[in-house]
Amino acid sequence: MTAGPASPIAGAGDGTVRHFTRDDDLSPAEQAAVLSLAAELKADRFARQPLAGPRTVAVLFDKPSLRTRVSFAVGIAELGGFPLVIDMQGTHAGRGEPVTDIARVLAGQVAAIAWRTFGQAAIEEMAAASSVPVINALTDRFHPCQVLADLQTVRAAYGRLAGLVLTFLGDGSSNMAHSYLLGGATAGLQVRICAPEAYWPAADVLAAAAALAERTGGSVAVSADPLDACKGADVLATDVWTSMGQEGQERTRSGAMAGYQVDAAKLALASPACRVLHCLPAHRGEEIAAEVIDGPASLVFEQAENRLHAQKALLCFLLDAAAGERREGRG
Ligand code: CP
Ligand code: NVA
Repeated sequence: MTAGPASPIAGAGDGTVRHFTRDDDLSPAEQAAVLSLAAELKADRFARQPLAGPRTVAVLFDKPSLRTRVSFAVGIAELGGFPLVIDMQGTHAGRGEPVTDIARVLAGQVAAIAWRTFGQAAIEEMAAASSVPVINALTDRFHPCQVLADLQTVRAAYGRLAGLVLTFLGDGSSNMAHSYLLGGATAGLQVRICAPEAYWPAADVLAAAAALAERTGGSVAVSADPLDACKGADVLATDVWTSMGQEGQERTRSGAMAGYQVDAAKLALASPACRVLHCLPAHRGEEIAAEVIDGPASLVFEQAENRLHAQKALLCFLLDAAAGERREGRG
């Protein structure tokens, strides 16, 4: 989390408000607690009402979405709140209203802000200027809400996370690969990113994940050999080869990643109990074979549902932290 400029808004930029702009904003213990609460909320959807009032949460979109839009809107309503979903094309952002001004205007009226945008720097700027929690609903760099849901899904399937081998195949420089590195290392997973060399993860993300893995007993590895990376894997994960914002690169990327499709042959190399993840939307026949995504190993629709529960748990955690700060007179 970046430190912000001096701000007249209590809590903004002074490090006392908790945000979730990247996966490692939650410590290993905090991530485990959020995942436990997510499982509780899945069993009893209306058990927590931190937004009763209703208090409002703003959910902002600079890019398309189905799952994120639905899961935040439904989740905020189930927590007793009002979801204010805004397509940013209809605001003044496109003609240059500063992110810091947007943050201050929203924070004066809402309990939290979730934002799907392009640059990671923008959401960190928003967080630094906001006196309420800011949640990354996907940037070019990270998709941490998705990986929280994915961890909830894997934990439910295996009853544990630490020590499991998760292999991600495809675009190793994508937001999903980066979030599997940070979120997976936080959970003590053995994360293998397998991609053509031109699409390997950013060095700083890999280094941060390696440092985390050292603390949690997990590990991180990057390779270009898909057959080797799939051997013995407990989870195979993939994502589209061309992400939002990379339109026009489809041919180059499909050519480079053709050997990295999650298909039956690669699944056969994995552990017999191996489960398959894809955050959706998927292109059957490109990054994943239809028979795999629609087959018995696939957990993709559990993942999609768990976005709801994981984000509700995250909101409870961040709102609890904010309330704690207010009680202690720091906010
Ligand atoms: N997985 C995911 O974030 O889907 P949407 O782009 O539809 O929100
Ligand atoms: N990597 C994909 C994820 C979509 C949910 C993208 O950013 O488009």
